[in-house]
Amino acid sequence: MANFHVIIPAAGSGSRMAADLPKQYLPLAGRPMIAWTLEPFLSCERISSVHIALSPDDSHWQAHAPHHPKLSILHCGGLSRAETVLNVLKGLHVEQSDWVLVHDAARPGLTPQLLNYLLDELQDDAVGGLLATPVADTLKRADAKNRVASTEPREGLWQAQTPQMFRYGILKEALIQAGEPPTDEAQAIEALGFSPKLVIGQLRNFKVTYPQDLALAEAMIAAYHQEARK
Ligand code: CTP
Ligand code: MG
Repeated sequence: MANFHVIIPAAGSGSRMAADLPKQYLPLAGRPMIAWTLEPFLSCERISSVHIALSPDDSHWQAHAPHHPKLSILHCGGLSRAETVLNVLKGLHVEQSDWVLVHDAARPGLTPQLLNYLLDELQDDAVGGLLATPVADTLKRADAKNRVASTEPREGLWQAQTPQMFRYGILKEALIQAGEPPTDEAQAIEALGFSPKLVIGQLRNFKVTYPQDLALAEAMIAAYHQEARK
């Protein structure tokens, strides 16, 4: 049976967060964000290995992050997220048919239940896929002055999240062949002519991007763990 491996690209600088530290190290409910992000993968028995990709000059990991026998730390970050992921894939010695899940370091809200749901939905799939949510709000197209130019139909539109889960061999090939760096793994897979499956995610798995997102992420994590302790 195919094994499941996880790659966490964590080599970004968090420019939109504009904090003293890269956002993956900022404190959330008593722990660094990256510790919350890693938790569901480290505690999931179905996951064989977890690989975190840091920037080559990252000096924060030691002070902020957990140790775990399943976890390997790689200072192989590239100029884009796609390059970071490809650098990890090139050094991974796993079966071509093994599954690789790529998950943003800045998504600390993934739950074990949502992770297991994704694995269940995709483990027998021919292509693989990703967590995503159908667009709920009305969509407006802006003109150059940020006035509404038009209202766009939202039918059939989804917002991509992570984990994105594909077979090792196909994912590596897709990222090697990609020209302009794709913004997610699915885009590279699509360029090879495949149609990744959309698996319904949850809003709580949002990507922490701006300073105001921290309070929301903290409240969400604190509430979840209070509930889990009951
Ligand atoms: N990432 C990476 N290597 C890069 C750029 C991004 O590993 N060269 C990672 C980030 O660390 C993050 C994920 O990709 O976990 C998603 O990227 P994003 O949310 O855009 O994070 P940053 O690039 O750090 O933030 P910003 O775009 O605001 O600078
Ligand atoms: Mg970025």
